[in-house]
Amino acid sequence: MEKKAESLERAKRAAGYQAADMIEDGMVVGLGTGSTVYFTIERLSERVRDGLTITGIPTSFQTAVRARAANIPLTTLDENPVIDIAVDGADEVDPKLRLIKGRGAAHLREKCVAAAAKRFLVVVDEKKLVEQLGAAPVPVEVLPFAVMPVLAQLRRLGCEPVIREGVKKDGPVITDNGNFVVDCTFPAIAHPERLEEALDGIPGVIGSGLFCGLVARTTVIVGSAKKVNILSSADIIA
Ligand code: A5P
Repeated sequence: MEKKAESLERAKRAAGYQAADMIEDGMVVGLGTGSTVYFTIERLSERVRDGLTITGIPTSFQTAVRARAANIPLTTLDENPVIDIAVDGADEVDPKLRLIKGRGAAHLREKCVAAAAKRFLVVVDEKKLVEQLGAAPVPVEVLPFAVMPVLAQLRRLGCEPVIREGVKKDGPVITDNGNFVVDCTFPAIAHPERLEEALDGIPGVIGSGLFCGLVARTTVIVGSAKKVNILSSADIIA
């Protein structure tokens, strides 16, 4: 058990560090959220100490805290509506590099930052690669005011929606934006683009954890205990 945890950590570190080593001097960098991008921040911290000059845009409160501790200067999308690159983790990656994100409830800001980036580096361990998206629930950020009608509409799309509950906090998780997260488990996701569009079309849904629109700019860095593989849209077989 201990061995498995260690090799998973090694895989995440390998992917995270590889992404950090692809960052160039002067770049504005979107900093994702989660346990894999944590290693990117760790490695960027070393590179900043050795003279790399970058500014970061954090996708969550947690990442802002980590980036400050790593001495990475921070900026905002207001100051930089277009950014050089974003680095982030994912919960699932399919063969067309479409993603499910949002285990940590940061997917709304993560999508805004990734969409503003010229290049999107996704850092994962190999267990995140799937043939078809949908074993993980699709997280949907929802305006609390509209949660009941949104739940009804989500059921009509064929999923089992569950309002995410806090840990060590009674009641729903509240995102960094003050909203709820509804986790939607679908029997299968045959058409991720159509589903993303349908979810985005529900009044009260602010954003889903399906990331289908960024594939052309996406590079997926897959860590394993022994090596790192790099997948880009050029590798996709239509
Ligand atoms: C945060 O809400 C998520 O989108 C994470 O980026 C995603 O769940 C990947 O996290 P890990 O790298 O911790 O698996």
